Amino acid sequence: MILKKTKLKLATPYGYFNDEQEYVILRPDTPKPWINYLSNREYHALVSQTGGGFSYYKDSKCHRILHWEDHKSDRPGRYLFIRDPKTNDVWTPNWQPLRKRLEQWQAKHGFGYSSIFSVEKGVETQLTYFVPPQDPCEIWVVTLRNLKDHDRNVSLFPYVHWLCGDYYLERDYKNILTLYNEAYYDETLQAIVAFKHPTSSRHFETYGFFASSVEPSGYELNYEKFVGKYGSLSDPRMLRKGESCSNEPLRGEEMIGVMEIPIHFRARQELTIVFVLGFTENKNQISEIIKRNIKPMDAKQHLQKTKVFWKHKLDSIKVETPDSEFDLMTNKWGKYQLLQITRWRSASYYSPGEGGRGFRDTAQDVEGAISIDPYLSREWLEKLLTYQYQSGHAVAGFSEIEGPWEIGTDKGILGKSDVAVWIPFMVSAYLKETGERSFLDLEIPYLDQGKGTVWEHCVKAMDHFWESRGEKGLPLFWKAEWNDALDRCGIKGKGESPWLAMAYCRALLQVEELAHFIGDETQAQVMRERYDEMKKNINEKAWDGDWYTGIFTDEGKVLGSKTCEEGKIYLNPQSWAVLSQVAPEIRAARCLKSVEAYLDTKFGPALHWPPYESYDPTVGRITAFAPGTKENAAIFSHAAAFLVVAYAMQKKGKKAYELFSKIAPYNPEKTLQIYQTEPYVYAEYCYGLGNPRLGLGAFNWNTGTAAWMFMAATQWIVGVRPTFEGLMIDPCVPSEWESFLIQRPFRGAVYEIHFKNPNRVESGVKEIFVDGKRIEGNILPVLAPGKVYKIEVVMGSV
Ligand code: GLC
Repeated sequence: MILKKTKLKLATPYGYFNDEQEYVILRPDTPKPWINYLSNREYHALVSQTGGGFSYYKDSKCHRILHWEDHKSDRPGRYLFIRDPKTNDVWTPNWQPLRKRLEQWQAKHGFGYSSIFSVEKGVETQLTYFVPPQDPCEIWVVTLRNLKDHDRNVSLFPYVHWLCGDYYLERDYKNILTLYNEAYYDETLQAIVAFKHPTSSRHFETYGFFASSVEPSGYELNYEKFVGKYGSLSDPRMLRKGESCSNEPLRGEEMIGVMEIPIHFRARQELTIVFVLGFTENKNQISEIIKRNIKPMDAKQHLQKTKVFWKHKLDSIKVETPDSEFDLMTNKWGKYQLLQITRWRSASYYSPGEGGRGFRDTAQDVEGAISIDPYLSREWLEKLLTYQYQSGHAVAGFSEIEGPWEIGTDKGILGKSDVAVWIPFMVSAYLKETGERSFLDLEIPYLDQGKGTVWEHCVKAMDHFWESRGEKGLPLFWKAEWNDALDRCGIKGKGESPWLAMAYCRALLQVEELAHFIGDETQAQVMRERYDEMKKNINEKAWDGDWYTGIFTDEGKVLGSKTCEEGKIYLNPQSWAVLSQVAPEIRAARCLKSVEAYLDTKFGPALHWPPYESYDPTVGRITAFAPGTKENAAIFSHAAAFLVVAYAMQKKGKKAYELFSKIAPYNPEKTLQIYQTEPYVYAEYCYGLGNPRLGLGAFNWNTGTAAWMFMAATQWIVGVRPTFEGLMIDPCVPSEWESFLIQRPFRGAVYEIHFKNPNRVESGVKEIFVDGKRIEGNILPVLAPGKVYKIEVVMGSV
């Protein structure tokens, strides 16, 4: 064990990490909703500290279960109203939607569950939400305790607001969509069943259900009857007035699911009640799903299983360094974020409507998750390849239910130009992790016609970019590359992207390496020749003097050049000049220096500088965003994470580590007043210079940052990278790190790698011992599976 030198950032007025690494939230009115993802393969729930948020089944657009307003109000949610019939007191342990001060309140987000604790009027409530590993449902386990020394009665009213349909249709045509609603109470199931009648615009026959472990004395399905005419959820009339539920089935009205559960408490008694909220395409399954989950003993067991599932997943790769916060993000919360979004990329709190998922986003999640969960990654990798065209190009994204986005973009105007460049990165990472050479021979269909092996998919991607070069010999920009918001500068098919040229170069190197691996020397040579030529083009056409140029537009303008007033320098072409090994040494040093001179802030580097001030139709929506937000010069964590890797490739350990710490939510500059978003996951971006809200965190959870930060921490800073032959040891750390370790499962064995840094260097390996025996070089061989090996690495020069 290594002595911890840093303490976790504890106890802000809003919360802290406890010993189980749960995030404990001390007040319900956090500056923004602080949320958790609860999911299994079919069901996904986004839940805030007050139980706010929505759930969906398989696809966030097609099968939205719950209605939800937005992140500003964070309402409605999964509420439990409690009413004391004697005093007429009404409260919710959630705090929302009544927002009455409670005697005691605390919430916790853990791995796979969230819970809310409250004490009010002598009733202690523990309300835990989770999604069990197997069934398409979420479970609410409610434990109530009567703190009084006498018997008493209370009534519980669990509450959900159904959508049960297509998110977009509902939003745009609510007046019509409501008329399709139907809900009823089913006595045998002891559950409310709710659904929308299918139509040609939404043909799915699906059912929502909400069951209780205790028989309700009544139920209400009609929103208006519950809140009252002109009423609101802040003060539902039915509860205020102590009215009875109508117990009427519903047709063609705004539908909710409320049950009245009468509780008779003895003095000091504790009771557990379970509610199961689920969704299915098969009505006959409702009863089974409820039966498997509704009994308190079973529900608690499923909760335990869920916790074990996550513990097991998160135990996979572990680092132990002198920085506990770095360890916590790498081992737990960042990894958890990465695995959750690899499963579910389709909706977030900030863009609740999108169905499906972006190709490039998923590809990066997959690459990042391979070392933690190769099975999950493999499944997505195979799926992604089915969205690639014969030509090598791939679609921007897809919904598993509604199919590809932008169908037909392969003919004529392309969609996002970079999509296929991400293919070799995942394939190569998968092969290096697993050593499964035969994966390259697996045949996978193309989106339009025919099929090809995984290897052919990679080669086609590389051919595609070679064939779609512009006048300068760089890949065409089309509608977007990594930067989605430059959506007008290449639509005429002339604009070219130096960044994409670099990403292509990086991919060419990886495909060349794969070709050598399988002995296809002809292809290896093709890749090398293209690499050399592309590298030459980049250095001849896109070097601006002190940094690499941003974009050449359709109109012949250059963005990201010293000649520009706004958007003089872009970040990505600098970091990727290093990642692609395109920049000669002097240029690499120079462009990274320019990044520091022009882009650096205390929260990380801006995406470009200066921000754009007004809309330019020849550039794109990037110029319309408020300065310092989103792609218009925000501090984009994902792009900053590319730079961490670039620093590590340049052997700048201190810089890589410092930047990592800036991007992380625990950066001490990210005070709650400034940063506001969840302190336990990566944000997509922080507001940048040029914006009065500099440092405000935005668009949390769904970001490629989680994947890149995990790779940066484990593969580039601690520096243990899979190769075809074994594990490469290449640490790049701050020189103060005297010792650190990583526990790294690899091809069935566990490598426990202890690093010593007696000369306080930032990089370099002097010697390596495997179970006490010195080995040559810095690649640990593939060792026999089923054992733990102790590796000692001494840093320094050879
Ligand atoms: C968002 C998108 C990602 C894109 C980035 C920059 O994070 O999900 O695909 O690369 O914005 O535009």
